[in-house]
Amino acid sequence: MNLLRSDTHTPLVHAIIGCGRVAPNHVDAFSAAGGVVLKWACDRDMEAARSLARSGRISAVTTDPAEVFADAEVDSVSIAVDHAQHAPLVAAALRAGKHVLVEKPLAMSDAEGAELVALGERTGRVLSVVSQHRYDPVVQAVRSWLAKGLLGVPVAVDVTLQCGRTAPYYRDSYWRGTWAGEGGSALVNQGYHALDVVRWLCRGLEVVGAAAGSGQLREAMETEDTFAALLRSPAGTLVTYSVTVASVISWRTRIGVVGSAGTVLFDLDHPGTLHLVDGGEELVTAARAEKARATREQPSGIDYYGISHRLQAADFCRSVRTGDPMTASGAAGLETLRLLTQLYRAGGGRRGEPVAPAGPAR
Ligand SMILES: NC(=O)c1ccc[n+]([C@@H]2O[C@H](COP(=O)([O-])OP(=O)(O)OC[C@H]3O[C@@H](n4cnc5c(N)ncnc54)[C@H](O)[C@@H]3O)[C@@H](O)[C@H]2O)c1
Repeated sequence: MNLLRSDTHTPLVHAIIGCGRVAPNHVDAFSAAGGVVLKWACDRDMEAARSLARSGRISAVTTDPAEVFADAEVDSVSIAVDHAQHAPLVAAALRAGKHVLVEKPLAMSDAEGAELVALGERTGRVLSVVSQHRYDPVVQAVRSWLAKGLLGVPVAVDVTLQCGRTAPYYRDSYWRGTWAGEGGSALVNQGYHALDVVRWLCRGLEVVGAAAGSGQLREAMETEDTFAALLRSPAGTLVTYSVTVASVISWRTRIGVVGSAGTVLFDLDHPGTLHLVDGGEELVTAARAEKARATREQPSGIDYYGISHRLQAADFCRSVRTGDPMTASGAAGLETLRLLTQLYRAGGGRRGEPVAPAGPAR
């Protein structure tokens, strides 16, 4: 039977659909949440399902998501498959009465995303889109400093992500580097987190200008390997944003926020780190405290995914039990999806349009 919101003692029965690269983070996160039984590992590749089940002490395996949705014991599911299948699988899970934590992005189009959010509301089920870096302590700290006015009026934000993805990463995948399966690449996949976090810090963003490029990995992917944009917040803060997957560095973010009363520079790497703080005494003291409590914990999966899936899973379980709103809700995921759509519209690419060459092919 589906978990009642008032029931805080019965374990929450969870299932994971899609047992690929990110799935171990869901096993780790729901195992750490406490009061959760991981029942199903589901992947259309049975060996992938079995392997995740073995590593996570999960009792049941299947290749068919419908079997999971039909299990009346299951309260909630993680959806961790390619982007194109998010919408149909999330819809099927919600219709079956399950609470859903879906990996980013919520869906491939704004219309699909809006339908899913409406369906979540109609069915009274929690729908959350993974945005684990919203939960990083350093991000939460910067958001609270902005809310308290410790940075003064935010004037400019500079966001960069450089990461390294090789041709086999795209060639060996059934969905990455394709418009049909991924719906873009550098921006919608790796660049998602920095965009979502900055949209959250700025309380909204609109696109001023953007450009997509494809250079170094052109032979291996039809989507963009690099994306750059200029955005503006409702308060007038100007945001410069760039992401590339064609770097020699596997993952390095930097987010600089310049306000009239203070400046911070931090990252979304692991552990999330505060690199620079300058400003008034209250800001500097808060920053010192933040640095002192920086985590030393190491992730069990791919290191730059971090460990904040745990914090989001805990927030998800709390929301299922209490009905309280989540930091990374379905509605928040829809707003970020809408921003992604605007960026691709302004920057080129998406839905099979060619991406302008940004440099010589290798
Ligand atoms: N939050 C993060 O930091 C983070 C990191 C990596 C990936 N992701 C996201 O996670 C999702 C999955 O990415 P990945 O890298 O794990 O992909 P992946 O290709 O490694 O794994 C996807 C798995 O889904 C399985 N699958 C596909 N269709 C299925 C279906 N209908 N039923 C059951 N199984 C099915 C595939 O067989 C595969 O094993 C994407 O949305 C991606 O953007 C998020």
